[in-house]
Amino acid sequence: MWTFFKEALGGIVSHGAVMPSTSFLAKDMLRPVDMKKGVVIVELGAGTGSFTKEILKRLPSDGKLVVLELNPILASHLKARIVDPRVIIVEGDAGKLGSYLKSFGYDRVDYIISGLPIGNFRRVVRERILSEINNNLSDTGRYIQFQYFLASWRHVRSVFDAKIIAYEVRNVPPAFVYECKKRIDFSLKKR
Ligand SMILES: C[S@@+](CC[C@H](N)C(=O)[O-])C[C@H]1O[C@@H](n2cnc3c(N)ncnc32)[C@H](O)[C@@H]1O
Repeated sequence: MWTFFKEALGGIVSHGAVMPSTSFLAKDMLRPVDMKKGVVIVELGAGTGSFTKEILKRLPSDGKLVVLELNPILASHLKARIVDPRVIIVEGDAGKLGSYLKSFGYDRVDYIISGLPIGNFRRVVRERILSEINNNLSDTGRYIQFQYFLASWRHVRSVFDAKIIAYEVRNVPPAFVYECKKRIDFSLKKR
């Protein structure tokens, strides 16, 4: 909690929160996830690992979780705390998701769970990340994103078939959860 708080104060735009998410929100985020045999999950913007912990409780023994966290302090904190053969933790940028996945031998993944503050990002950063998510999600996969405000909703809907599946009032602050499906015909050039 203290690590999160210090890092949050240092970079409020990239962080987008001053408190780690609650287990209530983590449960809402994971409700659409089918923890089937061999499932491959990506977590973007893991912070201190509130979702990571919940994903690992449910992940089957042959499942894989690739975690990306941009902040070096938070990434090393995660690496020190989470030692699990099912997990790869990367200090890295969600905007380069595809190249990380390729380097680990993954093509498309089943689920992308995101705590990124996409509503705070500049357009170019947001579009890059949404496009990487779209390109690296399997056709039947799901991208699940939480947000405190709906500022990003229209941007997300312009790329994905999206619906709001929860508004978690027990989180601090309360948060919306988006469940998004890939739009096979999507191309940034068409918009
Ligand atoms: C709102 S916090 C969420 C943390 C955690 N998932 C939770 O819900 O408690 C957002 C996290 O995204 C990370 N982040 C911001 N931009 C990123 C990027 N481009 N790639 C990867 N992580 C990023 C921040 O460092 C921060 O830890």
